[in-house]
Amino acid sequence: MLSREQVRDFHVDGFLAIDQPLIDDNEIARLREIYDEMFAQRAGRADGNQFDLAGADDPDAPAVLPQILHPDRYYTALKGPYLDAIGAIARQLLGPTVVTEIFHAILKPAGIGAPTPWHQDEAYWEPDRQYRSASIWMPLQPATIDNGCLWFMKGSHEWDVLPHQSIGANKKVHGLELVDASVVHDPVACPLPAGGVTIHRNRTVHFAGPNRTGAARRALVFSASLPDEPRIGARRFPWNEEKQTSREQRAQDSGESRWQLSPASKRER
Ligand code: NI
Repeated sequence: MLSREQVRDFHVDGFLAIDQPLIDDNEIARLREIYDEMFAQRAGRADGNQFDLAGADDPDAPAVLPQILHPDRYYTALKGPYLDAIGAIARQLLGPTVVTEIFHAILKPAGIGAPTPWHQDEAYWEPDRQYRSASIWMPLQPATIDNGCLWFMKGSHEWDVLPHQSIGANKKVHGLELVDASVVHDPVACPLPAGGVTIHRNRTVHFAGPNRTGAARRALVFSASLPDEPRIGARRFPWNEEKQTSREQRAQDSGESRWQLSPASKRER
């Protein structure tokens, strides 16, 4: 159970760090084993669900920020009773109708793990929908400034979605970055123990540094979404329309919905 102060801080700041493990060491070890196996197998690659977020996704080059969307579709053992704790936190923060799911897994490989540039998650999603959601980020080993813990900017969840572009302005790269990161000030680093979580809103501006350590930084990300609604007023995200990624091509070839990128409530409508 979160305290009233924690719930208030989440709504005022747009993020919250819970620096106590939600799950025990045995469960973390179990999840790590599955996690390493699914990245070794590149689970979901043929569906466009496994790709290099920060690179051009060349199959012969080592991925610098490999990601797997909806990993429990490929490894159902990722589910477990620990999801009850995730769901309870989501309900406390967003209300009883919230839908939680395992959203993606993101790995920063030892030594070469790339930074995740400043961005807002909603910039990846459907421009004609209105979102009320949060991402719950859980490392499977301690997350530190040196291995790529998350950083947030307080109050940025109240902003509109800012202009984004593919990382490095390379349209072959799936990952997004703010076009002008100079809007970010006084960022807050959130180191965590294994099994702790940070929770941030769909527009909270956030970042993670590179992995400068000799060990992998593993994180699982859960989405917590209220039913989304059609958005009043037209909006376009040209940075997604312009992308030419091999991830998108694989998704098309396999008949995968393009809205696999959005939280659950969307894909089920
Ligand atoms: Ni993000």
